[in-house]
Amino acid sequence: MDALIAAEGFEDALREEVAAVGLRATTAAPGVVVVDDAWPEGLDPVFARQRLPGCARAAGDSVARLAKATFDLLALPLDSCDHWSLHAFAWPGPDPADPSKGRPALVAGALLDLVHRHRRRARRRFVPLDDLTPEQAADLSLAQVLLLDRGAALVSLARPARLPVGLDPDPRWPAGVVAVAPDRRAPSSAYRKAEEAYARLGLAPRPGERVVDLGGSPGGWTWTALARGARVLAVDRAPLAPPAGGHPLLEERRGDAFRFEPDAPVDWLLCDVIAAPERTLDLLDRWLAGAWCRRFVVNVKFKGTARQAPLDALRALLARRGARARVKHLVHDKNEVTAFGLA
Ligand SMILES: C[S@@+](CC[C@H](N)C(=O)[O-])C[C@H]1O[C@@H](n2cnc3c(N)ncnc32)[C@H](O)[C@@H]1O
Repeated sequence: MDALIAAEGFEDALREEVAAVGLRATTAAPGVVVVDDAWPEGLDPVFARQRLPGCARAAGDSVARLAKATFDLLALPLDSCDHWSLHAFAWPGPDPADPSKGRPALVAGALLDLVHRHRRRARRRFVPLDDLTPEQAADLSLAQVLLLDRGAALVSLARPARLPVGLDPDPRWPAGVVAVAPDRRAPSSAYRKAEEAYARLGLAPRPGERVVDLGGSPGGWTWTALARGARVLAVDRAPLAPPAGGHPLLEERRGDAFRFEPDAPVDWLLCDVIAAPERTLDLLDRWLAGAWCRRFVVNVKFKGTARQAPLDALRALLARRGARARVKHLVHDKNEVTAFGLA
């Protein structure tokens, strides 16, 4: 049994993805979809923030009892782990920005205490989240404890699968909630999507790199590149707002993003144009076919609940063009997903 967690309100989108690979799913709690079989290794569920592979249920009507039931499930398999880390979280949890706060932190503390007392070797091999380097993240086992309510949890211990971009589950972010630092200077809150994509990609625009931002107004995404010292050409029918608008590293082009072609290949394509998914997919396809960018972050917006066909087409196009990419429903994505990767 695998558990997949989705943004609240997107359980149906996730269940549809599960059904598309021929598995059966039930919604165990808001945002928690349980798949009765193992999720196919290497297949990245777009609407899942995080995956709990091979999970089992633990029950206990106090923090101590829940921690003990969790320990009983984890103790033996932990013996054979080299290094491991732990995510304990509630989903969606009282604080969506930090699903580990409160009771999950208490359960994690009690669990680590039991490991310390009864499994000394495993305790020595524990890597706290704050100390986790990207190299370690790619090479450890991840224990996850998802509190469903005050007395029940889903518990998983697994080695993350390596994807073309990132890991699944990703040990860097409990519940897959990628923390993005607030930036009050950004002209729009949309910058958070670009920042999350950079964090997941492990790459961001660098000083001197050339960036094209299609549908760049009012300038949140453009700002993420300008603030890093990259040069941006923003194409939109509307102007960009300061401090992106008027920035010395910015060139604004008023026009149609779908007709734009760069004079020479650029380092990054950013695209957040509001358009039907087929149009955005065509645009990305042309950019990849033409080798017009080395890296890309492209947001695809859905119309209503018709998501599966565009998602299939997006995956097929990324595979056809040989892109090392990932498609995710990001923390700040609404009825949309973001494709990011290396062309
Ligand atoms: C969601 S907003 C982009 C927000 C932006 N990424 C930010 O961070 O501030 C979508 C933008 O796409 C622009 N847009 C829509 N259709 C376009 C087209 N055919 N050509 C150029 N821009 C277009 C809109 O004017 C709008 O500014």
